[in-house]
Amino acid sequence: MTLRSHIVGVGGYLPERILSNAELSTMVDTSDEWIRERTGIRQRHIIAKDQHTSDLATEAAKQALEDAGLSIDDIDAIVVATTTPDLIFPSTASIVQYKLGGRDFPAWDIQAVCSGFVYGLAQVDGMIRGGMFRRVLLVGAESMSRIMDWQDRSTCVLFGDGAGAVVLEARDEREANGIIGSVLHCDGSYRHLLMASHPHPGAAPGVDPMDLKIDSAGAAAVEMKGNEVFRVAVTKLGEVVGEVLGKYGVRQSEIDWLIPHQANIRILQATAKKLKMSPDRMALTVDQHANTSAASVPLALNHIYREGKLEKGQLLLLEAFAGGFAWGANLVRWSKD
Ligand code: ACO
Repeated sequence: MTLRSHIVGVGGYLPERILSNAELSTMVDTSDEWIRERTGIRQRHIIAKDQHTSDLATEAAKQALEDAGLSIDDIDAIVVATTTPDLIFPSTASIVQYKLGGRDFPAWDIQAVCSGFVYGLAQVDGMIRGGMFRRVLLVGAESMSRIMDWQDRSTCVLFGDGAGAVVLEARDEREANGIIGSVLHCDGSYRHLLMASHPHPGAAPGVDPMDLKIDSAGAAAVEMKGNEVFRVAVTKLGEVVGEVLGKYGVRQSEIDWLIPHQANIRILQATAKKLKMSPDRMALTVDQHANTSAASVPLALNHIYREGKLEKGQLLLLEAFAGGFAWGANLVRWSKD
């Protein structure tokens, strides 16, 4: 018998406020047509003034726990993948633990930008297989709107806020079920093509920390060489899906669902084409959510799960590409009723 990790609960949360392309085009020199044609995005959700990333994460986690029929007392660890933590420290995961009423079990954040959930799933899977934890809450949560330059039309139209969560549980079994395996990559030579510098204004030389506001919106801003990112993303995602299938001996025709990071519909379509998958076998939320970074893969999973599309025994391929560049993929045999 071997320990395997299974997804036993799924949840998601999107803040109430919706920012449409039409409204955005009153703020910067853009148009609904340009955004839809280049990215597939129609709208995005924006966090409320009094909300933090941990609030979005907590709501998604509550839904995942409820879906699993579990309470916070059944959980052994919380991992939050985020690029937009409430604070530099303590970790957003420790704040989520407190908000969920949990006590005295490990909680930590991981940072791999848009690949955070895919990295997190690989990490938690390894720890569960190693016997360290029985049940882990894994959350991807972001308030990307807080690190946007709202005057830069080339980036501010692309991102949104939200959170997605899963509960992972160890099961002792013979078959290769649940999380089958993962492949992760990072190449720091591309670090300058996509970044948000100055994680906090206090980190920038010449800034008096006494002048800082608690709400540091606008202090850091995403900068991206969009078309260069696009080119590398398409190539690396094509390679990584081939690699993960080869590593675990799976044919591309066996994949039932592609659950990609939602950055741009043209990148999603290129990966589906590489896998010879019809677009209706791909989870698609970029039109409604835009790019929610680490939240995008679990939100896409939650979306098709809530639509009742996932069936026990189906094979899922999750993938993401991010600043770093950091990218990766997970293969999952869906084992939830
Ligand atoms: N509205 C109108 N025009 C615009 C806008 C806008 N919002 N943004 C840029 N333009 C203009 C540019 O100024 C440029 O004009 P010019 O030709 O007069 O100079 C023109 O549109 C074309 O710009 P490009 O950047 O070449 O457009 P492109 O077709 O590459 O699309 C996009 C840009 C959507 C950003 C695309 O490159 C992309 O999706 N890149 C990948 C993003 C991604 O995958 N990120 C990874 C994950 S994110 C993370 O890790 C945090």
